[in-house]
Formats: sequence, structure tokens, C-alpha cells
Amino acid sequence: MAATFSSRLGFILSSAGSAIGLGCIWKFPYMAAQNGGSAFFMVYLLLAMTLGLALMSVEMALGRASGSGVAGAFLKLGGPRWRWLGRLPMITAFIIMGFYCVVGGWSLAYLFKSLIGQVVSNDAGVLAERFSALIANPWQAVAWHAGFLGLSAWIVLGGVQQGIEKMSRWLMPALFILMLVLIVRGVTLPGAMAGVEFLLVPDFSKLGFDTVLAAMGLAFFSLSLGMGAMVTYGAYLDVGSDLPASAGWVVVLTLVACLLGGLLVIPPAFAMGLDPQSGPGLTFISMPAIFAHMPAGALFAALFFALLLVAALTSSVSLLEVCARFAMDEFGMSRRRAVLGFSVGMFLIGIPAALSFGPWKDATLFGRNAFDLMDYATSNVMLPISGIATAILAGWFCWRTVESQMRQREGTRRTLLAVGRVIVAMVAPVAIGVILVRGV
Ligand code: PHE
Repeated sequence: MAATFSSRLGFILSSAGSAIGLGCIWKFPYMAAQNGGSAFFMVYLLLAMTLGLALMSVEMALGRASGSGVAGAFLKLGGPRWRWLGRLPMITAFIIMGFYCVVGGWSLAYLFKSLIGQVVSNDAGVLAERFSALIANPWQAVAWHAGFLGLSAWIVLGGVQQGIEKMSRWLMPALFILMLVLIVRGVTLPGAMAGVEFLLVPDFSKLGFDTVLAAMGLAFFSLSLGMGAMVTYGAYLDVGSDLPASAGWVVVLTLVACLLGGLLVIPPAFAMGLDPQSGPGLTFISMPAIFAHMPAGALFAALFFALLLVAALTSSVSLLEVCARFAMDEFGMSRRRAVLGFSVGMFLIGIPAALSFGPWKDATLFGRNAFDLMDYATSNVMLPISGIATAILAGWFCWRTVESQMRQREGTRRTLLAVGRVIVAMVAPVAIGVILVRGV
């Protein structure tokens, strides 16, 4: 098994690669639009900086202390009673991968279509129509889903350290630069400023319980918490790097990426008169509009979708790695068998999600189609439950171990650790629990 990340920077960028993905560029903009814009962003920010940061440090510590994937870490550090709670994050990762690959597939399709010049248009109606044509066609939706999944499997098969770490080092910075360039074009379109205002000027009258619930779900999703990714990556981290500081970097980079994602997608939607609350299609409909207003728009379109694809891939590989690592730890499987086996499972579970915008649009359970149901159940129920379990395990059952992981660097701030423990042991379980129970 590949031993460790080659450097702390590599670890931070790979973890940020897991965190920064479709969550920031695809999910955040439409969720912010549906949940009160700036009010949503504020709550999200607050949750990410407190609970998110504490839980991320703890997850990394559990991984490094145990040297195993998430289920193994729970078992080693908590004992046999934690067996199933440790499997829950892995199961969650499996389900998330089902619908994540569908959206990843849309990105792949858009990359392909922009290369053959079929993406850019100035007409909002045409853009919306093209997007629905893609997602409603069952063959296309499933084929692109399979293509994206195949790419992820290929990378994980090659060993994540070399592949992912290298890929993240180059492409994460490129993603940030390109987003900045496109934001400048987007916000200077006539009428776009209303979108910036909508996202940034606080309006607390829009703050409600739903906002908090949605923001918490997104905080977990976007920071890759509650599904074992950070535990699994932590297991590949060498002794001696400063954990809380690394986690801090990952959280800050993710917050910045989400803010940029919002500024990228929402203003052009306002400028084009698109409904920013339109949901999952927003990124795919609003971005091509920007390209129509740029010189070499087709080129920028291809670049943008290439980077969206990369952002999605650096996240999807972490989901697949969580599952594969479980099968390797638990059943002594080879990486190859573990990856291929889980990929087949993920392909199958992704099919209902892929068909949710076409033939299975009206097949609903609890009022949601398969795609929404998978998304809702994981973000709003399963990730929070795993979050509570992680917090309780770390805060009550193995704090010493966690603490010694956090203090490997001389002088890691005692007061900070004390505050961290209060957040992990008390605030996180109670706060997440209240939101979870009221939300269900
Ligand atoms: N954080 C990723 C994103 O925002 C999604 C993800 C969730 C990846 C959970 C891994 C684990 O796109």
C-alpha cells in the first residue's frame, strides 16, 4: 500500500481536492439561491468555521492514529460496538457516489460538447433546452455517468497518492485562477450586479430553520465530512504535520471556492434573466451564457468544463477510495478487486439517479425522485449521523489519542485544544442532533 503523501502541501491540496468539487461550483450556487442567498452563505460560513473545522481535524486525527480507513479506525479506536457506526460513513460514500457520478457525467458531456462547439449560446431558452435534452435522455445520462465513474476508477486503480497528489498540485491552483477570470467577465455583464448583491448583502429576514438545515447539509457535503474521506486521507499522512493547521487550510480554501462558485454562477444568471432557483441545472445553463460574451468563448467553455471535471474527479476518487480502502482493510482484497467491485455497485446505484430527470421523473418516494432522495438522505440524514458518531467517539472515548495527534507539533495551543474538545464533545453532538431531529 502506498505509504504517505509526499509533503504536507500535497496532503492539504489533496484534501482540498476532495472537499472542493461539485459542492462548491454546482451545489452551492443553486442552494444559496433557493435558501435566501447571503443569509444562507453566512450560516454556512459559521458552521464550516466551527463544527466543520473541529470535525475535520478530528477525522484526520482518527485516520492518522489508526492507520486505517474509516470503519477500521472506529473499530480500532472505539472497540467492537463501533463496528456498524464506522461502516455508516462508508455506505454513505457509496450512495453519494451514485448521484455524484451522474453530475460528473454531465460535466464530462459538456466538456465534450464544448470541444465540438455545441455549448455556447446567448439565448437562455436554447441553453435550458439543451441541458434538459441531455439529462432527460436515458441512454446519454447513463452512458456519461458510466464514463465519469470509469475515469474515477482508473485513477484510484493507479494508486491515489501518485495520481491524486500530482493532479491536485497542478490543477487546484489552475481552477482558482480560471474561476477568477470568469468571475470578472460574469459580474461585468449588464444586470449581473443584482446577483452579487443577492449573494453578499445580508438579509436576515430570510433566515429560517430550513436555511440552517440546508446549510449544515452543505457544510458536511462540501467539506467531505461524515463519510470517511478525511479519515482515509489522514491514514496516509505522516507523523509530525500539524493537523489543526492543515484542516484550517482545507476549510478556508473550500469556503473561498464556494464563494467564488457563487460569484461565478449566480451573477450571469441574473444578467440573463434565468431563474437562479432553478436547481441542479443552474451551473450548466448559466455558465455557457458567459462564454457567449467572451472572445474565444468556445475555448474558455472547454477550459471551464475541463476544470469542473477535474474538481469533480478529485472529489469522486476520495469517495471511491473510502469504499475500496474498506474492502482492502476488512477482507484483505487487492486494490484492483476492491475498486472494480465497488465501481460495479456504484454504477448500478447511479442508474436510478441518472434516470431521475427522464423516464423515472415521476417515480417518487416521500415526494422525491431517486436523485433527490439520495442527495437528501445522505446530506441531511446520514452525514449528520456520522458526524455525531465521530464527535462522540473522539470527544468521549478516545480524546487522548486525538489530542496527542493534534499536539505533535510543539506548542500547539492548549486553549485551542480545550475549546476544540468542548466543540467536539458537547456542541457538535447537541447542535447536529437538534437540527437532525427537527429536520426529519
Ligand atoms: N466535497 C465534495 C464536493 O463538494 C463532495 C464529496 C462529499 C466528496 C463527500 C467526498 C466526500 O464536491
